[in-house]
Amino acid sequence: KKDGYDWYMRKEIFEQPRAVADALLGRWSAEGQLQLDELRLSEGELREIDKIVVIGCGTANYSGLVAKYAIEHWTRIPCEVELAHEFRYRDPILTRNTLVVAISQSGETADTLMAIRYAKLQKAKVLAICNTNGSTIPRESDAVIYTHAGPEIAVASTKGFLTQLIACYLLGLYLAQVRGTKFGDEITAVVRELELVPAKVQQQLDRCEEIYALAREHADTRSVLFLGRHAGFPVALEGALKLKELAYIHAEGFAAGELKHGPIALIEEGLPVFCVMPPKGRDQLHDKMASAVQEVRARGARTIALVEEGDDAASYADTVIPLPKVPTLLQPLVAVVPLQLFACELATVMGHDVDQPRNLAKSVTVE
Ligand code: BG6
Repeated sequence: KKDGYDWYMRKEIFEQPRAVADALLGRWSAEGQLQLDELRLSEGELREIDKIVVIGCGTANYSGLVAKYAIEHWTRIPCEVELAHEFRYRDPILTRNTLVVAISQSGETADTLMAIRYAKLQKAKVLAICNTNGSTIPRESDAVIYTHAGPEIAVASTKGFLTQLIACYLLGLYLAQVRGTKFGDEITAVVRELELVPAKVQQQLDRCEEIYALAREHADTRSVLFLGRHAGFPVALEGALKLKELAYIHAEGFAAGELKHGPIALIEEGLPVFCVMPPKGRDQLHDKMASAVQEVRARGARTIALVEEGDDAASYADTVIPLPKVPTLLQPLVAVVPLQLFACELATVMGHDVDQPRNLAKSVTVE
């Protein structure tokens, strides 16, 4: 069943090129238009949406954080992201023109289910992004985008996360198409980039031995930090979550700009710090983050930078993990893969049960 892999998680990590390709399958019509057949919301209804609230728990919440960057940029619709279990207890402002996007791999997470029931009572429209056909959350939603990742058995989500990201990007682009906030050729260009992602994820997997070696070097580590900016910030959070779930060590993700406002006090000699570097662009984010990385390095941290190919990262990082070139908003799709491999291997060398980590369940059906 594990196709020769030691863990379902490792198998599922390696299934990601196929999972991403399947998540994209059939979304592009012969006329060069995005089509989301399962959506069940009319174009008229989608044009009236004036606010989006994305809810989810754990990894699903982090795909929501990425979605915010993409959806606001492409559609100009204000988009909030909220933990599903916090959402209904704070009296959120919802109207019939609010679109609540509930992300859940299993479709059974009680916190998320209760949140969508609340949203429906408030007359908001509810769209589920889900991997499990016919599960409760999509059944109770007005609309659904299935992620088509295939069954995810390991408790820690991997291909579930990547395909949730794909669904979020497709939703953002579809809204942009329906509402005319992006030209057709701009949408086509992003879709073409998405179609290149399976091969780029495969490139990351082909370099797994380097990541495994890095993990083995860290077998005694008790704490790891992750830094990111922009769409790389949720990747940092997800990288840290994977280590908490699997390796049972202290791991935290930060927005790199926040470092000087507190977390830099944590830096000590030898502390591993993963740095998800933004691609070099027009907005100077890359250079600002590179100087933050230099600062933690000067204080003794071991900096491990995930950088776009061609970035001269050796000047500011101790270890460099190259990433294929992708547009900034899509970078999480390739940047998270080495972090998944790292967590899986570190937990393996520590002797933990990677598929069934202690105290966790794949789907939490109580609030
Ligand atoms: C947690 C799982 O309990 O639920 C996480 O351990 C998962 O891996 C989270 O991300 C949310 O699950 P789902 O099925 O709603 O995406």
